[in-house]
Amino acid sequence: MTSFWSLWIIVLTIITIVGITWVLFGNRKREERQTDKTTGHVADGIEEYDNPLPAWWFYMFVLTIVWSIGYLIIYPGMGNYPGLIGWTQVGQYDKQVAVADEKYRAMRDRYLALPIEEISSDPAVRKMGMRMFSNNCAQCHGGDARGSYGFPNLADNDWLYGGTPADIKTSITAGRQGSMPAWGSVIGEQGVNDVTAYIMSINGRDANEKNVSAGKKVFQTYCVACHGADASGNTAMGAPNLKNGIWLYGGSAEQISHSIRAGRGGVMPAHADTLSEDKIHIIAAYVYGLSQ
Ligand code: HEC
Ligand code: HEC
Repeated sequence: MTSFWSLWIIVLTIITIVGITWVLFGNRKREERQTDKTTGHVADGIEEYDNPLPAWWFYMFVLTIVWSIGYLIIYPGMGNYPGLIGWTQVGQYDKQVAVADEKYRAMRDRYLALPIEEISSDPAVRKMGMRMFSNNCAQCHGGDARGSYGFPNLADNDWLYGGTPADIKTSITAGRQGSMPAWGSVIGEQGVNDVTAYIMSINGRDANEKNVSAGKKVFQTYCVACHGADASGNTAMGAPNLKNGIWLYGGSAEQISHSIRAGRGGVMPAHADTLSEDKIHIIAAYVYGLSQ
């Protein structure tokens, strides 16, 4: 907050407190005794006595004013003044998180000592893992982990980088960087069309015979290094299987040829800095369990 707005708040607060005190004391009746005098207001025949506030009522007002002054000294409230005890919302939140972390760490550490295969069906692990997945992964992979355009489905048995517990853990901890080069300028538009036809054909879809046989040659020259001679992919390079009908970037002829012409480069961010190892272990167990 700039010092102008800080001062603005301080002045307004002081004016309000002084004003309320003035109203309270300024209207106080000197004589402390009940009388029969009325204020002269009459509404529907009802008259208003001109009597002082009961003492307990009056002192309750005084107490609230004293309380507010004490509060503003101890806690933040007067503009930028931090308060005597330095309390902040963020500080309180951090403390609560630290307490919860301490409480659950022991439990997570117990799971960390066990293999993922073993704990992936444990209901407590699945529940914890699902919650952490929602907070850290669902924005990209979807709440049900089934992915979407450009974000792989983690609940099936098709893996870019491998589906063993160790592979999944590495994907989460270190992140992944997919790298499909752009081939448009290397094989030309004809080459793109031919190899697209070839990929359609190995997925059992209609394609022109002549394009398919030309495309097969293109594939064997440029693509087998990563996608494998039989197009079944290579988890060491993150190169997807191109004949199982599962598509990261869509399976229409347009989308396949676009992948080939312009290349693709999906990025899975590393989580080593944001998630502790015990948490990654539990999320990995959750993800592993989805396809088991
Ligand atoms: C910013 C988006 C984003 C977030 C957040 C994200 N991912 Fe990913 N993830 C991706 C992308 C994109 C890929 C695919 C990378 C590629 O195309 O090579 C991927 C790949 C993966 C893979 C490899 C899949 C395979 O088929 O081998 C796993 C496992 C994975 N993510 C798990 C997670 C988990 C668990 C979390 C949460 C801790 C997470 N991801 C958070 C975007 C994200
Ligand atoms: C250097 C390794 C490499 C080479 C060579 C390569 N690719 Fe790829 N390809 C990849 C990777 C890695 C991906 C996944 C990109 C990602 O995760 O974002 C991919 C993705 C694709 C996709 C998208 C798949 C999907 O599920 O949406 C198609 C189609 C494709 N490649 C076809 C080809 C063709 C055809 C060739 C040869 C002209 C080829 N690739 C050559 C590595 C390669």
